[in-house]
Amino acid sequence: MSQPGTATTLSPVRIRADIAAMEAYTPTASLEVFAEQLGRPVETIIKLDANENPYGPSPKARQALADLDVAHIYPDPAARKLCAMLSNYVGVGAEHIIAGAGSDELIDLLLRVFIEPGDAILNCPPTFGMYSFDAPQSHARVVNVPRRADFSLDVDGIERAAAEHRPKLVFLCSPNNPDGSLIPPEMLDRLLALPLVVVLDEAYNEFSGVDSMAPRVPDTPNLVVLRTFSKWAGLAGLRVGYGIFPLALTPHLWKIKQPYYLSAAADAAARASLDDLPFLQANVQHIVHERERLERELAVFPFLTPYPSRSNFVLCRVTGMDAAELRDTLAKEAGILIRYYNKPGLSDHVRFSAGTPDQNDALLATLRRIGES
Ligand SMILES: Cc1ncc(COP(=O)(O)O)c(C=O)c1O
Repeated sequence: MSQPGTATTLSPVRIRADIAAMEAYTPTASLEVFAEQLGRPVETIIKLDANENPYGPSPKARQALADLDVAHIYPDPAARKLCAMLSNYVGVGAEHIIAGAGSDELIDLLLRVFIEPGDAILNCPPTFGMYSFDAPQSHARVVNVPRRADFSLDVDGIERAAAEHRPKLVFLCSPNNPDGSLIPPEMLDRLLALPLVVVLDEAYNEFSGVDSMAPRVPDTPNLVVLRTFSKWAGLAGLRVGYGIFPLALTPHLWKIKQPYYLSAAADAAARASLDDLPFLQANVQHIVHERERLERELAVFPFLTPYPSRSNFVLCRVTGMDAAELRDTLAKEAGILIRYYNKPGLSDHVRFSAGTPDQNDALLATLRRIGES
């Protein structure tokens, strides 16, 4: 069987030329796939490559999945119960909230609702790859306004690009993936004054210690905030995200949204998570504590320079050693998976997701061995 992303000949069927020419996205693989590739038992793999939550779902979410008795019935397409609970959680009316199969679905939905062929979007790399990956599929032109060396936004550059390209959307991420920096509110205010929609991806907000911008959405017609259960709530495998949208936008999103993307299992687990906040928030605190420890302890290695992070991961510049080789050695020697960036500007960088204390101990011990060899 061919692997996902492997080109095969479909003659005489002709697929879209732009898709035929497109490079496939390489997502992280499952624990089982990595275990097989590395020839190790699954339970010895330490997965620090995709900013997942090492503690997993809350006990109430696990119980809700075990008790699920509606798997044979289509779920509520509007996820009304979940949106009512989310309304309390984010402090915004439920009519502003749309849930989907991960925030990835909502990124795609935004592109489909706004973009006509040739329209531009602004992207500020290095950042989460889905914005620029999804955009061309909706026939959007991606105009990149790179972040500065310290990963802060080049607001002057964004303003210039907005005047030149008249983009419909700018995608911003705070804390930003891969470095974990925040966008200061005054910078956001400058960007909200532009004639475009600001899509603010707050996938890591729960780790940041700053308030979400979601409560500003009802009074800000050009602000969309995206959130997810993948990180703080440990539900990455179930695919639950949501967006907070201005009311002028929601009816149009509902028109084009696939009705049943949020599965009954995902819906039930998300609701049970919101009913178990003290447990999940305690895990968030453990993760933040471990991230702070990683920031301190990674700085001790002469070959690593960590960047300050307000998220659940630490990006490091690698010097005097090949970053891809470091990734490979950690995987081969200790079954530790980290993220390496084969991208301009980041090819000498790696990102470590904060694991449990034991997982981080194993990471630091292996790095010490590598440093000594
Ligand atoms: C910034 C950012 N947004 C969105 C996502 C994806 O979220 P979801 O799992 O809800 O699709 C990720 C996942 O890594 C991310 O880093």
